[in-house]
Amino acid sequence: MSKKVFVKTFGCQMNVYDSDKITDALKIIGYKKTENLNSADCFILNTCHIRDKAKEKVYHEIGRVRETFLNKRKPLVIVAGCVAQAENTEMLKREPYIDLVIGPQSYHKLNETILKFEKNKFKNEITDFDTLEKFNYLDKIKNKKSKVSSFLTIQEGCDKFCHFCVVPYTRGPEYSRPFDQILNEANVLVQNGSKEIILLGQNVNAYSYQEFNKEYRLSDLIMSLEKIDGIERIRYTTSHPRDMTKDLLDCYKVSKKLMPFVHLPIQSGSDKILKLMNRKHKVEEYINTYNYLKGVNDRIEFSSDFIIGYPGEETKDFENTIKLIDKLKFINSYSFIYSARPGTTASKLEPIKDEISKGRLKIVQEKLFGYQKLKNKSFENKFIDVLVENEIQGQNKLFGRNEYMNSVIFEGNKNLIGNIVQVKVTKTNQNTLFGELHKKKDLRQHKIE
Ligand code: SAH
Ligand code: SF4
Ligand code: F3S
Repeated sequence: MSKKVFVKTFGCQMNVYDSDKITDALKIIGYKKTENLNSADCFILNTCHIRDKAKEKVYHEIGRVRETFLNKRKPLVIVAGCVAQAENTEMLKREPYIDLVIGPQSYHKLNETILKFEKNKFKNEITDFDTLEKFNYLDKIKNKKSKVSSFLTIQEGCDKFCHFCVVPYTRGPEYSRPFDQILNEANVLVQNGSKEIILLGQNVNAYSYQEFNKEYRLSDLIMSLEKIDGIERIRYTTSHPRDMTKDLLDCYKVSKKLMPFVHLPIQSGSDKILKLMNRKHKVEEYINTYNYLKGVNDRIEFSSDFIIGYPGEETKDFENTIKLIDKLKFINSYSFIYSARPGTTASKLEPIKDEISKGRLKIVQEKLFGYQKLKNKSFENKFIDVLVENEIQGQNKLFGRNEYMNSVIFEGNKNLIGNIVQVKVTKTNQNTLFGELHKKKDLRQHKIE
């Protein structure tokens, strides 16, 4: 009888991608995925360390698993991901219920470590930075999962060391996967039914792979994916403003599959704060990128990430962030109160008062949500292209996304899954567009121009 693994994932898209890869790898040693924790022989928690209380959240989750299995045989308990990397042996000491701790660049060693544990209960912690080995190993593992929209990691790690961020410590140095390895993986995804590829990297636009004296960049990848029949949509995330090079910007002039939506975190609208954060670019350079892309195609929209209450943020710095939002009208953004992370440069700086940060976060979110709602409203009574991803269980309704990643819900038959259909938007709220399927096949003349 095969054993069952239950995987719980926190954090960014890369953790989602990693969890899928881990699950595929575990099949080789006889573990099948389960959605039911109660029936699990192995529990994997894939963790995120980006903001506060990450560690406590992990111990809390482990406590819940312990309770679930109070009167049953204990499953094998594994902590993976960025908290595992940051805390390593500490976790085994603090919580004896944990059996194995494995960092993101050591997943190629997971199966052998589990087998060893099954044999002699050898508790272990593996946190080497072996990115090359990892990808070579994971690349050989077949995946037959059919997903309309698939993540594909092309680059991992970060050398930028923004003063607030743990990622360079948890994911290690920047590594770009071989160009051909990525294209092969994309082809497999397409054969399995993927219509959209979302290229992933902590600094996805820093992708750089050298072979035979040629450098391959993100722009080369996009233009190669463009040629693969079956791929309808291409996206990439997350990019750094400093790496928005002209070759990448110019992809928007020629590519028909690259979506007109750029997620480009700026963090603050104040040059002073950007400097204190070690972001190594100015607000004006960001605005230049924005203007250039709007000039290429004014349907291109931006979203961003903001850190509020960074040490040293004064009222005028915060006002500059608000001004920038009013100027660029991001359609969808994330904002977080600054959280001091262990080991980072900023963690040694004097924090600003929590009430001030909370007040500013409220203001910034009202602003951002306002623009988001306004943009969504602008779709009402218009036709939009929607890539249908799945059926909403028990509702005879379909779920898909428009070009800007908005969720779209409408009635339709599930044989439309995997197709791009036209939907007339009837109602919207902050997060979702609701609409009716347009029956006619080609209504491109009605597209929002
Ligand atoms: N590589 C991306 C961001 C990765 S982390 C970039 O360079 O922009 C995702 C987001 O988490 C960041 O954009 C930032 O807004 C937020 N974040 C990272 N560290 C944080 C911290 N210490 N406190 C609050 N938010 C943080
Ligand atoms: Fe973190 Fe900065 Fe690297 Fe992004 S670029 S992952 S924010 S250190
Ligand atoms: Fe979190 Fe690690 Fe991703 S810290 S955001 S899971 S890179």
